[in-house]
Amino acid sequence: MTIISDDNDFQKKDLKQKNPIIKTESIEYDKTFENSIRPKSFDDYIGQSALKETLKISIEAAKMREKPLDHLLFYGPPGLGKTTLAGVIAEQMGADIKITSAPALERPRDIIGILMSLKGGEILFIDEIHRLNKVAEEILYPAMEDFFLDMTTGKSQTVKTLRVPLPKFTLIGATTKAGELSGPLRDRFGIIYRLQFYSIEELASVIKRTASILDIKITEEGAAAIAKRSRGTPRIANRLVKRVSDFALIKFDGVITDEVANYSLDILNIDEFGLDTTDRALLNLIIEKYDGGPVGIETIAAALSEDVRTLEDVCEPYLLQAGLLQRTPRGRKVSPEGYRHLGKKIENMQQTLF
Ligand code: ADE
Repeated sequence: MTIISDDNDFQKKDLKQKNPIIKTESIEYDKTFENSIRPKSFDDYIGQSALKETLKISIEAAKMREKPLDHLLFYGPPGLGKTTLAGVIAEQMGADIKITSAPALERPRDIIGILMSLKGGEILFIDEIHRLNKVAEEILYPAMEDFFLDMTTGKSQTVKTLRVPLPKFTLIGATTKAGELSGPLRDRFGIIYRLQFYSIEELASVIKRTASILDIKITEEGAAAIAKRSRGTPRIANRLVKRVSDFALIKFDGVITDEVANYSLDILNIDEFGLDTTDRALLNLIIEKYDGGPVGIETIAAALSEDVRTLEDVCEPYLLQAGLLQRTPRGRKVSPEGYRHLGKKIENMQQTLF
């Protein structure tokens, strides 16, 4: 697997392609950790069973026809395994994969360079594909549709368009915001799929698998206790196993039981719904300062000194899914369940038609 880039300078990275590009030490640590536990095959990949079944069929059919797989778009909240799935697909296709993200494809030569570097059958994974600029999108259209690059040479009257053939490849796009993708780009994907939050049982399986790879001792109850607080997200589950294993080692006898997990997660300020300090601050703010809402996301972000995108992409999807927060045309509202979760009385909640 080649990680092409995490930042905006494709050229520099192009030189470094043989080594995965990693920006900072903490990211390096995270990526190494994530890569070490990343499932490589469908058998190892837990959850998303409906998607897995259709993918297996599409992959078998593509192999039988000796054709590349249709372009795929995965969308959904972060941490649900979009990149992991792309790696599994590449493995199953017996194909190489190049991984990049839209912000790294800022200049036309970035996207042209990467398209021209592809080999036949290779998979190109573009993360955050909703952030591709118009020019990059227009370069992608003929590449996705007919495997051609339309290059222009010369100036004004002498301008010529050259069609450069590309090897047949599969584009896998990933986004947390499918709605922000332009219609023409979305239409060029053969398979579009929303990744689902994981059930507690699925997360417990992810946790047990990770613990066994990392040589961490954990009981069934310990795995279930962490799963319950992982917000339906395997990336969070995997991080929590590591954090809790530190507590198990230093404060207990090294084994993660439910008691160890609950003790550690309480100290880490992760409550029994998996909400962290920011999630609770968001709900509290709406209740305390805006009578439960509705209130606009920009106002919430300013009051919490948080970025709107972080709130929308990271905090909100789970709060909405858990039924603690509601989205209305006039802004965000805390649900009666959200009040109950924070132990607040509903007396001031505004009555709205929405
Ligand atoms: N680690 C992260 N996501 C996973 C998944 N879906 N299955 C197994 N391990 C994982």
